[in-house]
Amino acid sequence: MTEFETRAIHVSQDPDANNGAVIPPIYMSSTHKQDGVGGLRGGYEYNRAANPSRTALQEVLASLEGGKFGLSFASGLAGEDAVIRATCAPGDHVILSDDLYGGTFRLMNRIHRAAGIDSEVVDMRDLAALKAAIKPGKTKLIWVETPTNPMLEVLDIAAIAKVAKENGVLSVMDNTFATPYLQRPLELGADIVTHSTTKYIGGHSDLLGGAVIVNDEELYEKIRFLQFAAGAVSSPFDAWLTHRSIKTLAVRMEKHCSNAQAVAEFLDGHKNVEQVYYPGLPAHPGHDLAKKQMSGFGGIVSLRFATEKAAKDFCNKTKLFTLAESLGGVESLVNHPAEMTHASVKGTPLEVGPEIVRLSVGIENPKDLIADLAQALS
Ligand SMILES: Cc1ncc(COP(=O)(O)O)c(C=O)c1O
Repeated sequence: MTEFETRAIHVSQDPDANNGAVIPPIYMSSTHKQDGVGGLRGGYEYNRAANPSRTALQEVLASLEGGKFGLSFASGLAGEDAVIRATCAPGDHVILSDDLYGGTFRLMNRIHRAAGIDSEVVDMRDLAALKAAIKPGKTKLIWVETPTNPMLEVLDIAAIAKVAKENGVLSVMDNTFATPYLQRPLELGADIVTHSTTKYIGGHSDLLGGAVIVNDEELYEKIRFLQFAAGAVSSPFDAWLTHRSIKTLAVRMEKHCSNAQAVAEFLDGHKNVEQVYYPGLPAHPGHDLAKKQMSGFGGIVSLRFATEKAAKDFCNKTKLFTLAESLGGVESLVNHPAEMTHASVKGTPLEVGPEIVRLSVGIENPKDLIADLAQALS
């Protein structure tokens, strides 16, 4: 089993050994019978520590990211929180890329700052600025999201991971937008990959989940301990549903990419749109780098209107593109980051302009999507 699509379908999905069910069951059990005290069957004891549905998901996630160890959490932020707790102590410092999911910034700025962990944001297209921001002995994490959210800048994963390594800092890559189908940061030198599996990995806007994937065993054990001891685990049902969705990740991502490209090309140069941000457009400043480190440009397209009113009018006029937070589902969504996904970063260096709109381009027929955008822009 060497190829991505095959592993997505077959890793940890052997038919049930007892009755041959092709799809393994959801293990809806909070606890496991012991054969005498301490006689655990398959290592299973209590659901917070391990559950077979979660184990299977964790194994396929690790396999797809090209990592050794996967951990699944109740949400993307729960996974991020475990990473920060496992690697930082009061007095430490974290560097974040300057355009990323508002909730990640809020987690650092409001929760972990209060616990004594300092953080700052840096434009990581500027490696000199990144190096200058590292505080020797104190900086523990360099936290990156690429393509960035919502402005779709492309950051050089290999170069950032190298700076981190040279300075004894761990690099964390939030791979939610790209998914392991399009980009595998561990293979480019990153130490930790995080996901909101709520997005493309779940893919159907019907579950909440997070994942952390690493290669280093000591780091894995620290994060796994927090998963168990703090308890933000995914439920058996969410784990099973996420695993079910992963089987179609490759075909969904192909379609998300081709639809997003068609949408971006339609919007680019439209008289009522000031600017389109999509790495698949040749004029995008990150186009060449994206071609190098990704195998497709993803399903998110952002656009800038002349005014806040024009942006909001557009959000209110789309019909197929549903006005809602989140992204990565099969259905297309439209989002006004300044007042929705990124409202929590208002007044910070991550603030998003009110003229910006973010589209999560789904896998409907592109003709219908473009017709909807055309009517909303008219
Ligand atoms: C890129 C990215 N990372 C992390 C998160 C947080 O994930 P969750 O909402 O599953 O906690 C989100 C949520 O929107 C996201 O878009």
